[in-house]
Amino acid sequence: MPGREVFGEEEIQQVTEVLKRGVLFRYGFDAQRQGVFMVSQFEKKFAEYTGSRYALGVNSGTAALKTALEGLNLPKKTKVLTPCFTFVATIESIEEAGLKPVLCEIDESLNISMNDIENQIDRKTSAILPVHMMGSACDMSEIMGLSDQFNLSVVEDTCQATGATYKGRRLGTFGKYGCFSFDYVKVLTTGEGGMVVTDDEKLYRQADWYHDHGHPHRTDVGRGVEERMRKGTNFRMSEIQGAIGLAQLEKLPSIIERHKKNKAILKQVLSGYDFITFRKHHDENGEIATFLAFFLPDARRAERFKEKMKENGINPGILNYWHFFANIQSVRTRRKFEKSRKILERTVVIEILVKMDAEKIADTIDKICKEF
Ligand SMILES: Cc1ncc(COP(=O)(O)O)c(C=O)c1O
Repeated sequence: MPGREVFGEEEIQQVTEVLKRGVLFRYGFDAQRQGVFMVSQFEKKFAEYTGSRYALGVNSGTAALKTALEGLNLPKKTKVLTPCFTFVATIESIEEAGLKPVLCEIDESLNISMNDIENQIDRKTSAILPVHMMGSACDMSEIMGLSDQFNLSVVEDTCQATGATYKGRRLGTFGKYGCFSFDYVKVLTTGEGGMVVTDDEKLYRQADWYHDHGHPHRTDVGRGVEERMRKGTNFRMSEIQGAIGLAQLEKLPSIIERHKKNKAILKQVLSGYDFITFRKHHDENGEIATFLAFFLPDARRAERFKEKMKENGINPGILNYWHFFANIQSVRTRRKFEKSRKILERTVVIEILVKMDAEKIADTIDKICKEF
């Protein structure tokens, strides 16, 4: 997921301009900053890009999730459904918002299983937190259908899927809030950083207040005398992050295009072998092609395939191991998620890069497959 691969003059110039003005704080210091607000500009551009009415920059994807869950003001201790295959931040942010994470199985889309969501909904459920894992959409039509039917809020964890779409609409814009991560390994990176998007003005205000100690960010009085609108914290994005984000956002379409080309080259070779099947996509055109995930018939053969890849200098992605709840020491649940485990054990993942020699890797994979 490599925004970092395309750092260049654009990022350097944006950051240099911020340093020359000397204002790293996103609010205030009006005279010194000469009317330039980098985080605000980034938010505006990001909202346009996603097609959301509002975007709020924060300092991580984790902060984005926590801000969204706090912004909803859900009844404490109610249940939030989320997949057993996700980065731990999803689960942590639910717990830290005083809510109860209820993990669900995944299916061969490697995203949350619709059947299991339906099985887990009960009268204590207040929200669904689907995670668009590895750049590819959850079944958003079904999820939004259940949300309507059971009156549940939806917060989308879009941290791994900035720029992805589902049926022509950007991920992160289906739920009440969409949450994005710009950490160092993401497709758009600001080093650390994140964004919350929403179409609802009231929810935007809640998030805006929460992420900055309840400040309403008035333009008519200074920060020092503002009233506090609610309890909050400090998840503010800095001007340096905003500056890098602006440069990276310009590059995002070309990053995704390059991913898609590289992925297609690798996928074509693997498609020639009937012992390989592919991750199911709810909208393959809309994914951002950050990973190529495929299945071997069983765990033993998947391990052997990964060994062969390593021997040949191709590193299999590790997401399929360390994002499974069973590999996260801090997550406790009674369920064993055998169905998900069986899927993940058979999964092999290759990370797609902008600057990869896809043809050469495809030849190597072809050789591995022929001898397999
Ligand atoms: C699915 C998912 N959710 C949340 C996060 C948290 O993002 P951050 O690292 O910016 O806090 C990540 C980061 O890897 C993620 O992959």
